[in-house]
Amino acid sequence: MPYAVQSHTLIVVRLFFSFPHGIMNSIPFKKSILESWYPIMAFDAQTLLQEAKALQEELVSIRRDIHAHPELGSHEVRTTEVIRSYLESLGIEIRPCLETGVFGILYGGQPGKTIGLRADIDALPIQEATGLEFASQNDGVMHACGHDLHATALMGAAKILAAHRNELHGNVKFFFQPDEEGSGGAERMVKAGCLQNPKVDAVFGGHSSTGQLAGQYGLKYGKTYAASNPFVIRVHGQGCHGAYPANGIDSIAVACQIVSALQMLVSRRISATDSAVVTVGSFHAGTAGNIIAGEAELKGIIRTLGPQMREKMCRLVKETAEGVASALGASAEVEIRTSYPGVVNEDAFTAFVHRVMISLVGEQGVTLKATPNMGTEDFGYFMDGIPGCYCAFGFGDGGKECRFPAHGPYFRANEDGLAYAAALHAAVAMQYLNENI
Ligand code: NI
Repeated sequence: MPYAVQSHTLIVVRLFFSFPHGIMNSIPFKKSILESWYPIMAFDAQTLLQEAKALQEELVSIRRDIHAHPELGSHEVRTTEVIRSYLESLGIEIRPCLETGVFGILYGGQPGKTIGLRADIDALPIQEATGLEFASQNDGVMHACGHDLHATALMGAAKILAAHRNELHGNVKFFFQPDEEGSGGAERMVKAGCLQNPKVDAVFGGHSSTGQLAGQYGLKYGKTYAASNPFVIRVHGQGCHGAYPANGIDSIAVACQIVSALQMLVSRRISATDSAVVTVGSFHAGTAGNIIAGEAELKGIIRTLGPQMREKMCRLVKETAEGVASALGASAEVEIRTSYPGVVNEDAFTAFVHRVMISLVGEQGVTLKATPNMGTEDFGYFMDGIPGCYCAFGFGDGGKECRFPAHGPYFRANEDGLAYAAALHAAVAMQYLNENI
């Protein structure tokens, strides 16, 4: 059924809601407001899901082709070409952006808002050991984080949405971003202006998860992925003979105290119900056993949830390192870099995505996650002042063949999830544009 007709049906349902409760009760709808949306939305979404399932075979062949030809971040030349020519064949405008990655825009037949859909496309420096017939043909490079699945699902969504362009109230921007694993392709795409002209009103994306069955989705409201701040602490003491430490300032002893004090930030300076990680992963100092080292260098990472905690932990790491060094007669130079900003899913837009998920796979097909992930994800750059939601697409098979962790050489995914991921992208875009006219 054409989408325009279904939109009218939605408006009719909205009118019912403005009636007093007695009238609502006489309508044979289910109890909750959320549920009472579904009979209409479910039909829309189910149509899209059927369209996505009809593409399943094509999606599998695209995915296997991309999987067999993985490319590292910022070197995704072939992958870029595959995606670009596919979008062009659908009549989607390609806009110049970065050297790799693809930025496409589909103009709907009617005026309206603009939604951004995002997938990442880079692979990892891993030697594939799955033995699959479509395993990587590039030595030492593998799609071991599912970005081949992400790119393929978004290509599928582009095909579905392009077929419905006349019914779309607004535009869909497609962000196939390079280099998620490395230096943050998202940030560079955003700096290149992909969120402007027209301005993006909401942004959506997701990551494959083999911990969830294909045909299911995962969702977390609020704080979802941690922000990352790598740091370097240089401790300046004073070298001298190892037999006479009082003649110098032992940078190793001072740096050890700094490492200990940093452990107390999470345990004693933030609430037990907040989350943060401070890890010192590298400690270098000294040249010989009988020399007091004048210089020591510590490298580590800070991971935090939410902007306030990020600001607080960065400040505490700096104050603590400088304070401890100074108390012990040394000095510390603290350099904290700003890396991925974290992902905080916006409540209202996430509730909308939740509704769309349920309309596709039912309530039992959606897992609401309680705990955030202290890992990082550069999707957060796209959410700069824009409501966004980053979810999980199920690509598991109950642990039969797809039981190996991502970022490992045996990683495998259940391709049945492709149609569901494509359908969710398409349904979120279509429903958002047609609900926000
Ligand atoms: Ni990934």
